[in-house]
Amino acid sequence: MYNRQKEIPREVNSLGKERMLVTGGHALEGQVRVSGGKNTAVAVIPATLLCNEPCTIENLPDIEDVHALADILTELGARVEYEPGKMMRVDPRPAEGISISYHNAQRLRASYYLLGALLGRCGKAKIPTPGGCEIGTRPVDQHLKGFQAIGAEAGEIGGILTAECEQLTGGDVFFDIVTVGATVNVMLAACKAKGNTVIYNAAKEPHIVDLANFLNSMGARIRGAGTDIIRIRGVQYLHGSTYAVIPDQIETGTLMIAAAATGGDIIINGCIPTHMDALSAKLLEMGVKVTDQDDAIRVHVVGQRRAINVKTQVYPGFPTDLQQPMSALLTTAKGTSIVTETIFEQRFRHLDEIRRMGAHVRVMGRTAIIEGVSELYSAPMTATDLRAGAALIIASLMARGTSEIYEPGYIDRGYEHIEDKLRSLGAEIRREPVL
Ligand code: UD1
Repeated sequence: MYNRQKEIPREVNSLGKERMLVTGGHALEGQVRVSGGKNTAVAVIPATLLCNEPCTIENLPDIEDVHALADILTELGARVEYEPGKMMRVDPRPAEGISISYHNAQRLRASYYLLGALLGRCGKAKIPTPGGCEIGTRPVDQHLKGFQAIGAEAGEIGGILTAECEQLTGGDVFFDIVTVGATVNVMLAACKAKGNTVIYNAAKEPHIVDLANFLNSMGARIRGAGTDIIRIRGVQYLHGSTYAVIPDQIETGTLMIAAAATGGDIIINGCIPTHMDALSAKLLEMGVKVTDQDDAIRVHVVGQRRAINVKTQVYPGFPTDLQQPMSALLTTAKGTSIVTETIFEQRFRHLDEIRRMGAHVRVMGRTAIIEGVSELYSAPMTATDLRAGAALIIASLMARGTSEIYEPGYIDRGYEHIEDKLRSLGAEIRREPVL
């Protein structure tokens, strides 16, 4: 059994207590294997609550968000056997809870997937508004609207998100905007509704497809995931399943950018190259060589990197989660790059830190104008969120001298053993306590 008392949440534990030291100037070389996908894992783990039998999830990344979800399922009364980095076996049958603690809800954004999962499981859920990265206002109106469209009452009172119904009926859900979170939440709730649901303007991210595949492997009837119309026929019973989540698209992209940043030559194994097409196209435009193999990508730098323009979009466009590492890379590309962030309104805070390293950056609203410099120099910096932390690592790998990155706990939320992976490629990176 998973013992939540023994597990000290690393993020919570390490905030303010550790720093990373990164010495730049080493070209990354060699091979590395990508971990299972964070954004898939945080949807698939809550989905186990919908199952009427035990199920097993494999290829889970050993990251703080997954640790938090193991605690949350345990808090709800599920039996959880968790071997970090290997598998999680969940027997949801004893789970009787319909709410989770404020502390656990704050540990990750995806704690709000418990709303959809519990609504589908038992018709009632009360979840404190979630934590997660502070990258914008991140409203939940589309989630609530989606639950209402399939027969639930849903709202927010005093910082608690609630959803309740006698019987979910299913229905037509029209999202005003493309949202990953609300698409996941409605899929979770609707798969055991009495009627059918059609989600229009659905998100198409790879983890939406992976969640549908997992639910279908248990007997759900979900069609169209990966397109903007998802059709769900409600079923009464979901049987146990063993399922391995897809590789992490954002970790893959971060490693690709790290190779490009250091003038390196690496092969990333275990990834799905087609998921990376938007990034690969941009790296090629910069003059970086990217070669797809079956389940691997080689990134290889020859010559100088050129400035480019980047605009974040929903999948299959350029992912907002890679905008931060990418804009760090662009600080040393030759020429002027324009980066436009269309998804989240506060996703340039990492550039304030990287400016301290000598980068020439102007931010105007949702646009950053980056004039490439020939060299960055090391500085002490603070990670303000998960992908900002990754961006600071990229900048530090390029810089002269040793940079200090404070609050690396944010990075642990989404990157499995990032220092070990980068060190295996030749980076000089370590962590130490802050005294
Ligand atoms: C997910 C990802 C995150 C990624 C983001 C965009 C997970 C766990 N997280 O976050 O890594 O950066 O997709 O690809 O998968 N919005 C509303 N109302 C809503 C819901 C969303 O206005 O009810 C807005 C958001 O403020 C944002 C946009 O829609 O501007 C997209 O958000 P969404 O796709 O829902 O992002 P998340 O699910 O939070």
